[in-house]
Parts: sequence; structure tokens; C-alpha cells
Amino acid sequence: MKLLEAVGLSQTYGWEMGWFTRNAKRVQAVNNLSLTLEEGENLGLVGESGCGKSTLARLLLGLAKPSSGRVLYRSTDFTDWSLSEMRMIRSKMQMVFQNSLASFNPRFTVEQIIGEPLRNYGVRNAEIRRAKVAETLELVGLEGRHIHRYPHELSGGQQQRVGIARAIALRPELIVCDEPFSSLDVTLRKQMMDLLQELKLELGLSYVFITHDLSVVSRFCDSVAVMYHGEIVEKQSGANIMQQADHPYTRTLLASVPVQDPRLRKNF
Ligand SMILES: Nc1ncnc2c1ncn2[C@@H]1O[C@H](COP(=O)(O)OP(=O)(O)OP(=O)(O)O)[C@@H](O)[C@H]1O
Ligand SMILES: [Mg+2]
Repeated sequence: MKLLEAVGLSQTYGWEMGWFTRNAKRVQAVNNLSLTLEEGENLGLVGESGCGKSTLARLLLGLAKPSSGRVLYRSTDFTDWSLSEMRMIRSKMQMVFQNSLASFNPRFTVEQIIGEPLRNYGVRNAEIRRAKVAETLELVGLEGRHIHRYPHELSGGQQQRVGIARAIALRPELIVCDEPFSSLDVTLRKQMMDLLQELKLELGLSYVFITHDLSVVSRFCDSVAVMYHGEIVEKQSGANIMQQADHPYTRTLLASVPVQDPRLRKNF
């Protein structure tokens, strides 16, 4: 079953004036883009900086309205819905950001950060909320002692775990991860990818996973869409993308993937 569908999505931003250019231009961040995410699927979204990945993420989650095109969740078109109409769908779709720390209220403890969506969605009883927060913390591999800490008292990896905990607090169906681990070192990145995979099994999640890194998505994603200048120029299965990239831009991306075994390097 289709979980999420984008049909002919476009997003144009207003006039952008360069420092050295006399003429301002409109930015076509997403250009007549269509894609489908099946229930249970991990969809990777790769592409160079500025190609429109984050803009697309916001449109898919209904956090911004497209200039044209439609977005459907479980076949329900929510493109023109108001904020209050979006409420129920919002709880089903969450986001994990590149820099979780920047997205936290610095005056909130971990308990308050993870408890906030619960409170917003009607869990008024503080004891019940605390129990749910503790349960969620455990799911992301944090301990009870972290619950009263402030975000700046956590390591980068722990902050991203809190970001994931906040995203799963309402037990959503879909999580959009926008470059979630790019600031972490390789070992930690691997641990976090494993965590996402465990949560998928535990909670039945689907992911849209945005990154610059093709080697990560090839392992984690069922399918990979390559974005270039606001359009999807290629879509392949995760297993195939490293070997069977067709589009010249995807080949360029592949060429920048570090290869551990030098004997394989000549293939790129
Ligand atoms: N709010 C905005 N107003 C004007 N232009 C914007 C806005 N947000 C993004 N843009 C422009 O839209 C284009 C796509 O930006 P977007 O952030 O979606 O790219 P991205 O693929 O996520 O890049 P990165 O990999 O660096 O995060 C860029 O040219 C950017 O400057
Ligand atoms: Mg981005």
C-alpha cells in the first residue's frame, strides 16, 4: 500500500539577488517531481547541496505548501489542509534533523523535549508521560539517568538519539531523516543506522533518508532516488545503485564515494 505520494510537486522561492549579479532570479527548488513511498519502504534521497532535498522533505511532511502539485498520505490528499486539519496526519509523520541540538529548546530537559509532542497530543497526566518518555528513551538506547539532563549536557551521538526519541514519541508510521548523522564519526554513524533499522522492526516504520552519501543509502534503503536541480533524475533499488547507475550525475556522485578496497576503485 502507498504510504506517501507526491504528484507533480514544484516549489519556487522568491527572487534571489546574488552579491555580484545585477539580475535577481527565481529559485526553482523542486521541479515537477513525483515519487511514491510504499508502506515499510526505506527510500533514500541523494543529491548535491542545494538540489532541493530539504525543500522536498518539508513539502512531503506538509510543513510547507508547494507552489503546485499534490501530496497524499494513505491516498488522502492533504495539500490544501489547514494546520488544524493536518494535526492527525502530522502525528504519523515525523522528522529527524541534521542538527538536533539546534532544534531543541535549550531550556528543556530531555524529559520535556521528548514529552512535548506527547503533551501536545493529549497525554496530560505527568506520570503517564514520564513512563512513556522512559520507555522511548530505552528504545533509542539512552538510560534513565539522561532524562533530567539538558541537551548541551549530552554528546553529539546522544543528542541525535534524543532527536530520534522525540520523533518516535507519538509512534509515527513515517520518519523523514534529513542528513541525520552527517556530523557524527563513522563508528557512531553505523550505530545510529543500526538503531534506525531496529526501530523499524520494532515499530513498523518507513523512512525517507536524505543524505549526500550513496554508500550509506545503498546498504540501508530499498530504493534510492537521485535528485538534481529539483528533479529526480534516477531511481534504482538500493542494492543496484552502486553498480548500475545510469545517469551521468549519479556516476559523478559514485566517484566521490570512498572505496575501502583499492582493487574495487578502478570500477568507478
Ligand atoms: N526559504 C527559502 N527561501 C529562498 N530560497 C530557498 C529557501 N530554502 C531553500 N532555498 C533555496 O532552494 C534551493 C534548494 O535548497 P534545499 O535546502 O532544499 O537544498 P538541499 O538539497 O537540502 O541542500 P543541502 O544538501 O545543502 O542541505 C537552494 O538553492 C536554496 O538556496
Ligand atoms: Mg538540506
